[in-house]
Amino acid sequence: MAAGKGTRMKSTLPKVLHKLAGRPLLQHVLETAAELKADGIVVITGHGADEVESAVAAPHLAFARQMPQLGTGHAVQQALPKLHEQGTTLILSGDVPLMEAATARALIEACSGSKLALLTINLADPTGYGRIIRGDPAGRGATEGGRVHGIREHKDANATERTIREIYTGVMAAPTALLRRWLGLLKNDNAQGEYYLTDVVAMAVAEGVHVVTAQPASETEVLGVNSPVQLADLERRYQRRRAEALMESGVRMADPARFDVRGELRCGADVDIDVNCIFEGTVILGNSVRIGANCVIRDAVIGDRAVIHPFTHIDGETLGARVGAGSLIGPYARLRPGAVLAEDVHIGNFVEVKNSTLARGAKANHLAYLGDTTVGERVNYGAGSITANYDGANKHRTVIGNDVHIGSNCLLVAPVAVGDGATIGGGSVISKDAPAGQLTVARARQVTLAGWQRPVKKAK
Ligand code: UD1
Ligand code: CA
Repeated sequence: MAAGKGTRMKSTLPKVLHKLAGRPLLQHVLETAAELKADGIVVITGHGADEVESAVAAPHLAFARQMPQLGTGHAVQQALPKLHEQGTTLILSGDVPLMEAATARALIEACSGSKLALLTINLADPTGYGRIIRGDPAGRGATEGGRVHGIREHKDANATERTIREIYTGVMAAPTALLRRWLGLLKNDNAQGEYYLTDVVAMAVAEGVHVVTAQPASETEVLGVNSPVQLADLERRYQRRRAEALMESGVRMADPARFDVRGELRCGADVDIDVNCIFEGTVILGNSVRIGANCVIRDAVIGDRAVIHPFTHIDGETLGARVGAGSLIGPYARLRPGAVLAEDVHIGNFVEVKNSTLARGAKANHLAYLGDTTVGERVNYGAGSITANYDGANKHRTVIGNDVHIGSNCLLVAPVAVGDGATIGGGSVISKDAPAGQLTVARARQVTLAGWQRPVKKAK
């Protein structure tokens, strides 16, 4: 169910598209559903339907529109034409992102194709939730304990019912054929004038269908997002869970509360991560990698023993980025898509590398740009030197051989090649290939003007 408005988010973005760990809330729910290997997944959309559907569209997803939104029962009614005749239907909410697949599996098992299974939990403060009514269905007192005979929405509950702490989490598993029949019988004679999905529970009881319950492993799994405060709370819970899993596998973290992974992070042995680092997309850290404080790393592979010093930004989106074993990067370095660094490469402060390969032992330690460049082994690329790879219309490559020394403040105007062992004098503008093994200088020759006098200020 992803048709609701999400009024309390106070946002123009539909609620289920707000991001948790870099992905829409709804995407988390769909990933859990995919893990269950369902025969079909139907997403019920309504508010912002076009935007929601295009954000999560995938070949295995079907969409059902609910216009207008007349309640959760009405929502599921819209999906019925897209459900199989037989089998089990699992109902999830698009704004409850952290439920584990294992919990859903336990619920489906409890349903076992013939019962109505509800995911419930006991809350210290159940305000606002539908209460699980247990006890004698004949109505001699609603009690906790005993068989379930109904769910009472908070707004419809009396004072006694409101003291019940066991609540319906919004997740249920039901035999599809029964669900189909029950949904056809729903009425909206309640406090909100809505078609409540939860009314199917009393129908099941009336027909003698067993209503069973299962509980999640933790409260976090069933928390929903209704407001920015709740979104931030769930984000921290999620990140804490990820950080703990990494630490359990041996990763050392300066502070798990200041750590964010928005995608997949795989770590070797003896990895150290300092505070305030963000990992996005797919990031792989080798053995004994050290990540300094305040680094942002996306879609990158970092080799064994590499050190990423503080404030480094590595963004390999699409082409990927690769840092070789033993390399030293930063502080304040920027590696962009297609930066491929071999072993023992040094990239220092304010150096930007884009779509370039640097062979073993190459160094660019200060204030430099390497774009669309092939750099040989042991090259020393001087401070302030840049490749001019873009002529305003097309990109061109620069090729620098092995053991080249590029002085400071050089401009390499691509396409251009510098041969093995060449030296380029500082301040050169190199627009033609420089031969191997020789010194090439391309700048005005230094002159000294004999007898030149500094001007003096005229007397008034
Ligand atoms: C619902 C349950 C309540 C439960 C609570 C758990 C009902 C009647 N009540 O209440 O027992 O304790 O969830 O969080 O089901 N939605 C639609 N179309 C609609 C209405 C809602 O798609 O017409 C979607 C919402 O986008 C949301 C989900 O259904 O993803 C739940 O709707 P919401 O209004 O939040 O239900 P609650 O009133 O909280
Ligand atoms: Ca509601």
